[in-house]
Amino acid sequence: MKTYNETMYGLGSKRSTIREIFEYAKLRSTEIGKENVFDFSIGNPSVPAPKAVNEAIEKILKETPPVELHGYTSAQGGKDVRERIAANYLKRFGVELSADDLYMTCGAAASLTITFKALTNVGDEFITFAPFFPEYKVFVENAGGKLTVLPSDATTLLPDFKALERGLTPSVKGVLINSPNNPSGVVYGENTVQTLAALLKKKSEEFGKPIYLISDEPYRELVYDADTTVPCVMKYYEDSIVCYSYSKSLSLPGERIGYVAVNPQASERTGVYAAICGAGRSLGFVCAPALFQRVAAECDGMTSDLSVYKRNRDLLYKGLTDLGFTCVYPDGAFYLFLKAAGGDAVEFCARAKKYELLLVNGEDFGCKDWVRVAYCVPTEQIERALPLFQKLAEEYKRI
Ligand SMILES: Cc1ncc(COP(=O)(O)O)c(C=O)c1O
Repeated sequence: MKTYNETMYGLGSKRSTIREIFEYAKLRSTEIGKENVFDFSIGNPSVPAPKAVNEAIEKILKETPPVELHGYTSAQGGKDVRERIAANYLKRFGVELSADDLYMTCGAAASLTITFKALTNVGDEFITFAPFFPEYKVFVENAGGKLTVLPSDATTLLPDFKALERGLTPSVKGVLINSPNNPSGVVYGENTVQTLAALLKKKSEEFGKPIYLISDEPYRELVYDADTTVPCVMKYYEDSIVCYSYSKSLSLPGERIGYVAVNPQASERTGVYAAICGAGRSLGFVCAPALFQRVAAECDGMTSDLSVYKRNRDLLYKGLTDLGFTCVYPDGAFYLFLKAAGGDAVEFCARAKKYELLLVNGEDFGCKDWVRVAYCVPTEQIERALPLFQKLAEEYKRI
């Protein structure tokens, strides 16, 4: 007899495709040498945290009495920390948050889990667009909701608004977006956010209740061209919630620090924030790591050296498109989405693997004929991988 929870068993006993490839890469490295394995599977930042992070840690260690430093903070995070992040939000985005619109979390995963738990009642549905971060389904279902994945425009991979208009029914509690996007690198520009906001506003009015816009933003600062900006959703849509993380911007994924920010203009602002606090409590996500709350307050808005990702993005995009591969131009994050030659991403990844190129097929992201290439790797890995991609391209020409 099994006494444990079958759903949790299912989640825990099966590795994600990305983790599967990551583990294979480690094993393969012991067989043929790390330099001969071209692992493009995982989104682990490849540049160190900015110097300011270490300086902040040293300063905090020196200046804060240890009992206070390592003690519990308020469940929602230290008030001073939240005040500093709120002040910076105003400076950076022109949106006036107060400390009581912010809830410090253990990274974006916790921000999302808390948000879905806070919003979901039985039967609620959330909409997102393919391609999407596969954990969304786990997080929504854990809160008792249902995730519906709608298509994006086949060329731009921006939301298909006709599909959204059809999909917005009274059972939809929220729409979840992720820009810059994992896995496509696509950034939703101002027009996209405006169109989305207008549609959600229209439907919220029609149904007589808010439809929330949940914006998952761990890659917010990772954009590479002067004309690329990531609009702040709170300026366009009142019933919005931002799930942020310092994992990628400051290269701190192992430290688990981020926040949820509730739009102060939200129609149910006080109730939603209280539900966020309640969800944090119910999930055991209270008092995010105290040292890194303080580091976040000191370094909010800073980034690691993004020039490395830009160089990688340029090299990879040019290299792959010159070889005849179809790629979506990645404006941000550190992923490139590549159309699988031959149309079958599983087969494409299997063929790539013969050249020791380890890529992630797009099936888990909701796009069966695409492949994700994570370029948060040493630049030299891309330089040495391109001739192998050339062999792969030539193989497809022969088929
Ligand atoms: C789109 C997206 N959302 C959320 C997360 C989770 O981020 P964190 O490590 O901060 O929990 C990731 C991590 O890769 C991600 O790519």
